[in-house]
Amino acid sequence: MAYLNENYLKLKAGYLFPEVGRRVKSFCEKNPAVANRVIKCGIGDVTEPLPPAVINAMHQAVDEMGERETFRGYGPEQGYEFLRNAIAQNDYRSKRIDIADDEIFVSDGSKCDCGNILDILGDKNKTAIPDPVYPVYVDTNVMAGHTGEADESGAYSCIVYLPCTVENAFIPEPPDEKVDIIYLCSPNNPTGAAANKTQLSVWVDYALKNKSIILYDAAYEAYITKPGIPHSIFEIPGATECAIEFRSFSKNGGFTGVRCAFTVVPKKLLASTTKGEFKQLHPLWFRRMTTKFNGVSYITQRAAESLYTEDGKKQVRCLIEHYLGNARILREAITNAGLKVYGGVNAPYLWVKAPEGYTSWQAFDKILQEANLVITPGSGFGSKGEGFFRVSSYNSRENAVEAAKRFKQIKW
Ligand code: MLT
Repeated sequence: MAYLNENYLKLKAGYLFPEVGRRVKSFCEKNPAVANRVIKCGIGDVTEPLPPAVINAMHQAVDEMGERETFRGYGPEQGYEFLRNAIAQNDYRSKRIDIADDEIFVSDGSKCDCGNILDILGDKNKTAIPDPVYPVYVDTNVMAGHTGEADESGAYSCIVYLPCTVENAFIPEPPDEKVDIIYLCSPNNPTGAAANKTQLSVWVDYALKNKSIILYDAAYEAYITKPGIPHSIFEIPGATECAIEFRSFSKNGGFTGVRCAFTVVPKKLLASTTKGEFKQLHPLWFRRMTTKFNGVSYITQRAAESLYTEDGKKQVRCLIEHYLGNARILREAITNAGLKVYGGVNAPYLWVKAPEGYTSWQAFDKILQEANLVITPGSGFGSKGEGFFRVSSYNSRENAVEAAKRFKQIKW
Protein backbone atom coordinates (compact mmCIF):
# COMPACT_ATOMS: atom_id res chain seq x y z
CA MET A 1 0.00 0.00 0.00
CA ALA A 2 1.28 3.45 -0.84
CA TYR A 3 0.55 6.34 1.49
CA LEU A 4 -0.12 9.83 0.27
CA ASN A 5 1.10 13.10 1.72
CA GLU A 6 -1.83 13.90 4.00
CA ASN A 7 -0.70 17.49 4.34
CA TYR A 8 -2.25 18.10 0.92
CA LEU A 9 -5.62 17.06 2.35
CA LYS A 10 -5.40 19.96 4.79
CA LEU A 11 -5.49 22.49 1.92
CA LYS A 12 -8.76 24.35 1.95
CA ALA A 13 -9.44 25.10 -1.71
CA GLY A 14 -7.82 24.82 -5.13
CA TYR A 15 -5.04 27.26 -5.93
CA LEU A 16 -6.57 30.71 -6.43
CA PHE A 17 -5.77 31.43 -10.07
CA PRO A 18 -6.96 28.12 -11.56
CA GLU A 19 -10.19 28.65 -9.58
CA VAL A 20 -10.60 32.11 -11.13
CA GLY A 21 -9.84 30.56 -14.55
CA ARG A 22 -12.45 27.84 -13.98
CA ARG A 23 -15.15 30.40 -13.16
CA VAL A 24 -14.26 32.55 -16.17
CA LYS A 25 -14.37 29.51 -18.46
CA SER A 26 -17.76 28.53 -17.13
CA PHE A 27 -19.03 32.11 -17.60
CA CYS A 28 -17.78 32.16 -21.22
CA GLU A 29 -19.41 28.80 -21.98
CA LYS A 30 -22.72 30.04 -20.65
CA ASN A 31 -22.39 33.42 -22.37
CA PRO A 32 -20.72 32.77 -25.74
CA ALA A 33 -21.98 36.07 -27.15
CA VAL A 34 -19.71 38.05 -24.81
CA ALA A 35 -16.84 35.56 -24.44
CA ASN A 36 -14.67 37.57 -26.85
CA ARG A 37 -15.31 40.72 -24.87
CA VAL A 38 -13.77 39.41 -21.65
CA ILE A 39 -10.69 41.36 -20.52
CA LYS A 40 -8.43 39.75 -17.95
CA CYS A 41 -7.23 41.93 -15.10
CA GLY A 42 -6.86 38.90 -12.86
CA ILE A 43 -3.61 36.91 -12.72
CA GLY A 44 -0.49 39.06 -12.87
CA ASP A 45 0.74 37.73 -16.19
CA VAL A 46 2.67 40.05 -18.50
CA THR A 47 1.24 40.83 -21.93
CA GLU A 48 3.97 42.77 -23.73
CA PRO A 49 6.56 41.04 -25.94
CA LEU A 50 10.08 40.35 -24.70
CA PRO A 51 12.51 43.29 -24.97
CA PRO A 52 14.72 43.35 -28.10
CA ALA A 53 17.89 42.89 -25.98
CA VAL A 54 16.48 39.57 -24.76
CA ILE A 55 15.53 38.42 -28.25
CA ASN A 56 19.04 39.20 -29.53
CA ALA A 57 20.69 37.40 -26.61
CA MET A 58 18.47 34.37 -27.08
CA HIS A 59 19.15 34.19 -30.82
CA GLN A 60 22.87 34.36 -30.18
CA ALA A 61 22.68 31.68 -27.49
CA VAL A 62 20.67 29.42 -29.78
CA ASP A 63 23.36 29.81 -32.44
CA GLU A 64 26.02 28.88 -29.88
CA MET A 65 24.06 25.76 -28.97
CA GLY A 66 24.06 24.80 -32.65
CA GLU A 67 27.87 24.67 -32.93
CA ARG A 68 30.05 21.89 -31.52
CA GLU A 69 32.61 24.38 -30.12
CA THR A 70 30.08 26.46 -28.19
CA PHE A 71 27.43 23.85 -27.42
CA ARG A 72 26.68 23.40 -23.69
CA GLY A 73 25.09 20.52 -21.83
CA TYR A 74 24.39 20.61 -18.10
CA GLY A 75 25.27 23.95 -16.61
CA PRO A 76 26.06 24.72 -12.97
CA GLU A 77 22.90 23.97 -10.98
CA GLN A 78 23.12 27.25 -9.11
CA GLY A 79 23.49 29.34 -12.28
CA TYR A 80 26.22 30.37 -14.73
CA GLU A 81 28.88 32.63 -13.32
CA PHE A 82 28.17 35.31 -15.97
CA LEU A 83 24.60 35.73 -14.71
CA ARG A 84 25.35 35.47 -11.00
CA ASN A 85 28.01 38.12 -11.45
CA ALA A 86 25.71 40.43 -13.44
CA ILE A 87 23.03 40.12 -10.74
CA ALA A 88 25.35 40.60 -7.76
CA GLN A 89 27.08 43.54 -9.44
CA ASN A 90 24.01 45.39 -10.75
CA ASP A 91 21.36 44.65 -8.16
CA TYR A 92 23.59 44.74 -5.08
CA ARG A 93 27.25 45.79 -5.22
CA SER A 94 26.62 48.84 -7.43
CA LYS A 95 24.17 49.89 -4.70
CA ARG A 96 26.75 49.35 -1.98
CA ILE A 97 25.15 46.11 -0.78
CA ASP A 98 27.79 43.51 -0.12
CA ILE A 99 26.53 40.34 -1.84
CA ALA A 100 28.99 37.88 -3.38
CA ASP A 101 28.35 36.16 -6.72
CA ASP A 102 28.08 32.79 -5.03
CA GLU A 103 25.35 34.01 -2.70
CA ILE A 104 23.10 34.25 -5.78
CA PHE A 105 21.22 31.09 -6.82
CA VAL A 106 19.57 31.24 -10.25
CA SER A 107 16.31 29.32 -10.60
CA ASP A 108 13.24 28.89 -12.77
CA GLY A 109 10.98 31.09 -10.66
CA SER A 110 10.37 32.81 -7.35
CA LYS A 111 7.13 30.91 -6.83
CA CYS A 112 9.14 27.65 -6.93
CA ASP A 113 11.88 29.04 -4.68
CA CYS A 114 9.38 30.35 -2.11
CA GLY A 115 8.05 26.81 -1.81
CA ASN A 116 11.34 24.97 -2.18
CA ILE A 117 13.08 26.97 0.54
CA LEU A 118 11.03 24.99 3.06
CA ASP A 119 13.22 21.97 2.23
CA ILE A 120 16.00 23.51 4.29
CA LEU A 121 13.88 24.86 7.16
CA GLY A 122 12.69 22.71 10.02
CA ASP A 123 9.08 21.72 10.52
CA LYS A 124 8.94 23.02 14.10
CA ASN A 125 9.22 26.65 13.10
CA LYS A 126 6.49 29.06 14.02
CA THR A 127 5.84 31.02 10.84
CA ALA A 128 4.39 34.50 10.45
CA ILE A 129 2.63 35.27 7.19
CA PRO A 130 0.92 38.55 6.23
CA ASP A 131 -2.81 38.43 5.56
CA PRO A 132 -3.67 39.08 2.75
CA VAL A 133 -0.65 37.93 0.73
CA TYR A 134 0.48 35.78 -2.20
CA PRO A 135 -1.22 32.44 -1.39
CA VAL A 136 1.86 30.36 -2.21
CA TYR A 137 3.41 31.09 1.22
CA VAL A 138 0.59 29.53 3.23
CA ASP A 139 -0.13 26.69 0.80
CA THR A 140 3.49 25.53 0.55
CA ASN A 141 3.82 25.52 4.34
CA VAL A 142 0.73 23.34 4.54
CA MET A 143 2.08 20.98 1.85
CA ALA A 144 5.43 20.71 3.65
CA GLY A 145 3.73 19.78 6.92
CA HIS A 146 4.84 22.97 8.63
CA THR A 147 1.30 23.74 9.84
CA GLY A 148 -1.48 21.96 11.64
CA GLU A 149 -5.07 21.74 10.48
CA ALA A 150 -7.14 24.75 9.50
CA ASP A 151 -9.92 25.93 11.81
CA GLU A 152 -13.46 26.87 10.66
CA SER A 153 -12.22 30.28 9.55
CA GLY A 154 -9.55 28.65 7.36
CA ALA A 155 -6.63 29.70 9.61
CA TYR A 156 -3.92 27.05 10.07
CA SER A 157 -2.35 26.32 13.44
CA CYS A 158 1.41 27.08 13.68
CA ILE A 159 0.92 30.08 11.38
CA VAL A 160 0.78 33.51 12.93
CA TYR A 161 -1.25 35.72 10.60
CA LEU A 162 -0.09 39.33 10.34
CA PRO A 163 -3.08 41.51 9.51
CA CYS A 164 -2.54 44.02 6.70
CA THR A 165 -5.36 46.49 6.87
CA VAL A 166 -6.28 50.04 5.93
CA GLU A 167 -5.29 51.04 9.49
CA ASN A 168 -1.66 49.92 9.10
CA ALA A 169 -1.53 50.96 5.42
CA PHE A 170 -1.23 47.24 4.59
CA ILE A 171 2.27 47.01 6.09
CA PRO A 172 2.46 44.15 8.63
CA GLU A 173 3.83 44.80 12.09
CA PRO A 174 5.81 42.35 14.23
CA PRO A 175 3.63 40.21 16.47
CA ASP A 176 3.86 40.32 20.27
CA GLU A 177 4.93 36.69 20.32
CA LYS A 178 8.19 35.19 19.04
CA VAL A 179 8.13 33.67 15.57
CA ASP A 180 10.94 31.86 13.76
CA ILE A 181 10.17 32.50 10.09
CA ILE A 182 8.63 35.67 8.66
CA TYR A 183 7.40 36.14 5.11
CA LEU A 184 7.43 39.70 3.80
CA CYS A 185 6.45 40.75 0.29
CA SER A 186 7.27 44.30 -0.79
CA PRO A 187 5.99 45.81 -3.05
CA ASN A 188 3.13 43.70 -1.93
CA ASN A 189 1.08 41.25 -3.85
CA PRO A 190 -1.90 41.86 -3.66
CA THR A 191 -2.18 45.23 -1.88
CA GLY A 192 0.52 47.13 -3.79
CA ALA A 193 1.86 48.56 -0.50
CA ALA A 194 5.64 49.05 -0.31
CA ALA A 195 7.46 49.09 3.02
CA ASN A 196 9.79 51.99 3.77
CA LYS A 197 13.20 51.79 5.46
CA THR A 198 11.83 52.38 8.95
CA GLN A 199 9.20 49.68 8.57
CA LEU A 200 11.73 47.17 7.25
CA SER A 201 14.25 48.09 9.95
CA VAL A 202 11.65 47.21 12.59
CA TRP A 203 11.43 43.73 11.06
CA VAL A 204 15.19 43.29 10.77
CA ASP A 205 15.62 44.32 14.42
CA TYR A 206 12.88 41.87 15.42
CA ALA A 207 14.50 39.04 13.43
CA LEU A 208 18.00 39.71 14.82
CA LYS A 209 16.66 39.87 18.38
CA ASN A 210 14.64 36.65 18.06
CA LYS A 211 17.09 34.82 15.77
CA SER A 212 14.29 34.55 13.22
CA ILE A 213 14.64 34.46 9.45
CA ILE A 214 12.85 36.81 7.04
CA LEU A 215 11.86 35.36 3.68
CA TYR A 216 11.70 38.53 1.60
CA ASP A 217 9.84 38.40 -1.69
CA ALA A 218 10.93 41.35 -3.83
CA ALA A 219 9.52 40.11 -7.15
CA TYR A 220 7.96 43.54 -7.82
CA GLU A 221 10.89 45.76 -6.78
CA ALA A 222 11.23 47.22 -10.30
CA TYR A 223 7.84 48.92 -9.85
CA ILE A 224 9.02 51.09 -6.97
CA THR A 225 8.66 54.72 -8.07
CA LYS A 226 8.82 56.50 -4.73
CA PRO A 227 12.37 57.51 -3.71
CA GLY A 228 13.56 56.09 -0.41
CA ILE A 229 11.63 52.80 -0.63
CA PRO A 230 14.15 49.93 -0.37
CA HIS A 231 14.44 47.67 -3.40
CA SER A 232 16.13 45.00 -1.33
CA ILE A 233 15.90 43.91 2.31
CA PHE A 234 19.71 43.95 2.25
CA GLU A 235 19.61 47.76 2.18
CA ILE A 236 18.80 47.45 5.89
CA PRO A 237 21.88 47.01 8.09
CA GLY A 238 22.04 43.54 9.63
CA ALA A 239 19.69 41.95 7.05
CA THR A 240 22.38 39.66 5.62
CA GLU A 241 22.35 37.95 9.04
CA CYS A 242 18.60 37.34 9.06
CA ALA A 243 17.11 37.33 5.56
CA ILE A 244 16.79 35.45 2.31
CA GLU A 245 15.65 37.46 -0.72
CA PHE A 246 13.64 36.22 -3.70
CA ARG A 247 13.78 38.15 -6.99
CA SER A 248 12.35 37.39 -10.37
CA PHE A 249 12.75 38.35 -14.03
CA SER A 250 9.06 37.60 -14.62
CA LYS A 251 7.65 41.01 -13.93
CA ASN A 252 10.54 43.23 -15.01
CA GLY A 253 11.86 41.47 -18.15
CA GLY A 254 8.50 39.89 -18.96
CA PHE A 255 9.80 36.36 -18.26
CA THR A 256 6.60 34.73 -16.93
CA GLY A 257 6.77 32.32 -19.85
CA VAL A 258 10.58 32.22 -20.16
CA ARG A 259 11.15 31.34 -16.47
CA CYS A 260 14.12 32.78 -14.62
CA ALA A 261 14.55 34.13 -11.11
CA PHE A 262 17.09 34.11 -8.32
CA THR A 263 17.35 33.73 -4.59
CA VAL A 264 19.98 35.36 -2.41
CA VAL A 265 21.14 33.27 0.53
CA PRO A 266 23.84 35.17 2.43
CA LYS A 267 26.65 33.15 3.95
CA LYS A 268 26.25 35.03 7.22
CA LEU A 269 22.74 33.65 7.64
CA LEU A 270 22.53 30.98 10.35
CA ALA A 271 19.75 28.77 11.67
CA SER A 272 19.70 26.45 14.62
CA THR A 273 19.63 22.67 14.92
CA THR A 274 17.26 21.19 17.53
CA LYS A 275 20.37 20.86 19.74
CA GLY A 276 20.88 24.63 19.56
CA GLU A 277 23.92 24.63 17.26
CA PHE A 278 23.86 27.48 14.73
CA LYS A 279 24.80 26.55 11.16
CA GLN A 280 24.91 28.31 7.78
CA LEU A 281 21.90 27.84 5.50
CA HIS A 282 23.97 28.63 2.38
CA PRO A 283 25.54 25.13 2.05
CA LEU A 284 22.15 23.50 2.65
CA TRP A 285 20.56 25.49 -0.19
CA PHE A 286 23.56 24.72 -2.39
CA ARG A 287 23.11 21.03 -1.58
CA ARG A 288 19.40 21.21 -2.27
CA MET A 289 19.88 22.95 -5.63
CA THR A 290 22.62 20.63 -6.81
CA THR A 291 20.59 17.58 -5.84
CA LYS A 292 17.09 18.49 -6.93
CA PHE A 293 17.65 20.96 -9.78
CA ASN A 294 19.61 20.92 -13.02
CA GLY A 295 19.75 24.66 -13.54
CA VAL A 296 18.04 27.09 -15.87
CA SER A 297 18.77 26.68 -19.58
CA TYR A 298 21.82 28.45 -21.01
CA ILE A 299 19.62 30.34 -23.49
CA THR A 300 17.41 31.66 -20.72
CA GLN A 301 20.36 32.70 -18.56
CA ARG A 302 21.90 34.62 -21.46
CA ALA A 303 18.49 36.26 -21.93
CA ALA A 304 18.41 37.25 -18.25
CA GLU A 305 21.97 38.58 -18.45
CA SER A 306 20.93 40.86 -21.33
CA LEU A 307 18.50 42.67 -19.01
CA TYR A 308 21.56 44.14 -17.28
CA THR A 309 23.04 45.68 -20.44
CA GLU A 310 22.45 49.41 -21.05
CA ASP A 311 19.85 48.61 -23.74
CA GLY A 312 18.28 45.93 -21.58
CA LYS A 313 17.91 48.30 -18.63
CA LYS A 314 16.23 50.96 -20.82
CA GLN A 315 13.88 48.40 -22.33
CA VAL A 316 12.91 47.08 -18.88
CA ARG A 317 12.13 50.68 -17.82
CA CYS A 318 9.80 51.02 -20.85
CA LEU A 319 7.96 47.84 -19.87
CA ILE A 320 7.56 48.96 -16.26
CA GLU A 321 6.38 52.41 -17.35
CA HIS A 322 3.87 50.80 -19.67
CA TYR A 323 2.32 48.71 -16.87
CA LEU A 324 2.46 51.55 -14.35
CA GLY A 325 0.77 53.75 -17.00
CA ASN A 326 -2.04 51.18 -17.15
CA ALA A 327 -2.19 51.20 -13.35
CA ARG A 328 -2.67 55.00 -13.39
CA ILE A 329 -5.47 54.78 -15.96
CA LEU A 330 -7.27 52.04 -14.04
CA ARG A 331 -6.71 53.69 -10.69
CA GLU A 332 -8.23 56.97 -11.88
CA ALA A 333 -11.24 55.26 -13.47
CA ILE A 334 -12.04 53.08 -10.45
CA THR A 335 -11.60 56.03 -8.10
CA ASN A 336 -13.94 58.10 -10.31
CA ALA A 337 -16.43 55.26 -10.10
CA GLY A 338 -16.58 56.00 -6.38
CA LEU A 339 -14.51 53.08 -5.06
CA LYS A 340 -11.56 53.35 -2.71
CA VAL A 341 -8.35 52.25 -4.44
CA TYR A 342 -4.97 51.45 -2.86
CA GLY A 343 -1.68 50.46 -4.51
CA GLY A 344 -0.79 50.88 -8.16
CA VAL A 345 1.95 53.45 -7.49
CA ASN A 346 4.89 51.26 -6.45
CA ALA A 347 3.32 48.07 -7.75
CA PRO A 348 1.39 46.74 -10.75
CA TYR A 349 -1.63 45.86 -8.59
CA LEU A 350 -4.58 47.95 -7.43
CA TRP A 351 -6.29 46.87 -4.24
CA VAL A 352 -9.89 47.99 -4.31
CA LYS A 353 -12.46 48.08 -1.50
CA ALA A 354 -15.64 46.47 -2.77
CA PRO A 355 -18.76 48.54 -2.12
CA GLU A 356 -20.62 47.85 1.16
CA GLY A 357 -22.56 44.62 1.07
CA TYR A 358 -20.34 42.84 -1.47
CA THR A 359 -18.04 39.98 -0.61
CA SER A 360 -14.95 39.61 -2.79
CA TRP A 361 -16.50 36.80 -4.85
CA GLN A 362 -19.78 38.70 -5.21
CA ALA A 363 -17.81 41.65 -6.57
CA PHE A 364 -15.96 39.24 -8.90
CA ASP A 365 -19.27 37.89 -10.26
CA LYS A 366 -20.80 41.33 -10.74
CA ILE A 367 -17.74 42.73 -12.51
CA LEU A 368 -17.54 39.67 -14.76
CA GLN A 369 -21.25 39.63 -15.58
CA GLU A 370 -21.81 43.36 -16.04
CA ALA A 371 -18.48 44.51 -17.44
CA ASN A 372 -16.95 41.24 -18.69
CA LEU A 373 -13.81 42.05 -16.72
CA VAL A 374 -11.86 39.51 -14.68
CA ILE A 375 -10.41 40.62 -11.35
CA THR A 376 -9.01 38.57 -8.46
CA PRO A 377 -11.16 38.29 -5.33
CA GLY A 378 -9.32 39.61 -2.29
CA SER A 379 -10.46 36.76 -0.06
CA GLY A 380 -8.29 34.43 -2.16
CA PHE A 381 -5.25 36.11 -0.59
CA GLY A 382 -6.37 35.58 3.01
CA SER A 383 -9.28 36.30 5.32
CA LYS A 384 -8.29 39.97 5.70
CA GLY A 385 -8.64 40.31 1.93
CA GLU A 386 -12.39 39.70 2.21
CA GLY A 387 -14.34 42.69 0.93
CA PHE A 388 -11.53 43.71 -1.44
CA PHE A 389 -10.57 42.80 -4.99
CA ARG A 390 -7.30 43.08 -6.89
CA VAL A 391 -6.98 44.60 -10.36
CA SER A 392 -3.86 43.73 -12.32
CA SER A 393 -2.41 46.33 -14.69
CA TYR A 394 -0.77 43.69 -16.88
CA ASN A 395 -2.50 44.40 -20.17
CA SER A 396 -2.11 46.12 -23.49
CA ARG A 397 -2.83 49.87 -23.31
CA GLU A 398 -5.92 49.34 -25.43
CA ASN A 399 -7.33 46.77 -23.00
CA ALA A 400 -6.46 48.89 -19.98
CA VAL A 401 -8.28 51.90 -21.47
CA GLU A 402 -11.30 49.75 -22.35
CA ALA A 403 -11.31 48.10 -18.89
CA ALA A 404 -11.14 51.56 -17.27
CA LYS A 405 -14.18 52.67 -19.29
CA ARG A 406 -16.13 49.59 -18.27
CA PHE A 407 -15.21 49.90 -14.56
CA LYS A 408 -16.83 53.36 -14.64
CA GLN A 409 -20.06 51.94 -16.12
CA ILE A 410 -20.71 49.34 -13.41
CA LYS A 411 -23.80 50.22 -11.35
CA TRP A 412 -23.07 49.14 -7.78
C1 MLT B 1 -0.30 36.87 -9.31
O1 MLT B 1 -1.18 37.16 -10.10
O2 MLT B 1 -0.42 37.00 -8.08
C2 MLT B 1 0.98 36.37 -9.86
O3 MLT B 1 0.91 36.21 -11.21
C3 MLT B 1 1.33 35.12 -9.28
C4 MLT B 1 2.73 34.71 -9.60
O4 MLT B 1 3.57 35.53 -9.95
O5 MLT B 1 2.95 33.52 -9.47
